[in-house]
Amino acid sequence: VRVAVLISGRGSNMAALLAAAGNEEFPAHIAVVIADRADAAGLATADAAGIPAMAVPRRDYSDKAAHEAAIEAQLHRHDIDLVCLAGFMRLLSGAFVARWQGRILNIHPSLLPLFPGLDTHARALAAGVRLHGCSVHFVTEGMDEGPIVAQAAVPVECHDTAQTLSERVLAAEHRLYPAALHAVANGSVRLDPATGRSVFSAD
Ligand code: GRF
Repeated sequence: VRVAVLISGRGSNMAALLAAAGNEEFPAHIAVVIADRADAAGLATADAAGIPAMAVPRRDYSDKAAHEAAIEAQLHRHDIDLVCLAGFMRLLSGAFVARWQGRILNIHPSLLPLFPGLDTHARALAAGVRLHGCSVHFVTEGMDEGPIVAQAAVPVECHDTAQTLSERVLAAEHRLYPAALHAVANGSVRLDPATGRSVFSAD
């Protein structure tokens, strides 16, 4: 299974996926890393790991469709089966998502369906939840709405700030995303297009 990782920034989840995929038993190969900004720090990390890495900046294209077409051309060029969004700060169009149905994953720093969108850690603290965490889900048109593949919970500690909580969640993300990609790549979790739900099978 050939995977593209799409990033916008630091790329620590991308690095966790690269590390996991470095194991020859891992059922997926990271074939390319694509950023929507030339200054995404994760591009250098991918490059240092010997993975093809490129920027496809939004401002180089006249509209969203042209930008997505350029990204998609790279996906085809690298013969990609599965796309992992990892801190990719752009909502993909319905048309793009439909063409890749069941083949795009995203990681989100909350226990969905709680706290979709931005500033999840501050919102979790404001809500007073005692458990927080992260989710990997199949991408659908709605933001952070697709069927869940895997989740990990972390405790909220009494002195937590958004920063300390985010660090605890990020450590969980780095374990969760490789595990979720492993499960999707080997077919033990898939999106059922008829129901729009995740189907889990014991292998
Ligand atoms: C992560 O918290 C991810 O869940 C969220 O954005 C952050 C990206 O971090 N969508 P990184 O670029 O993977 O380090």
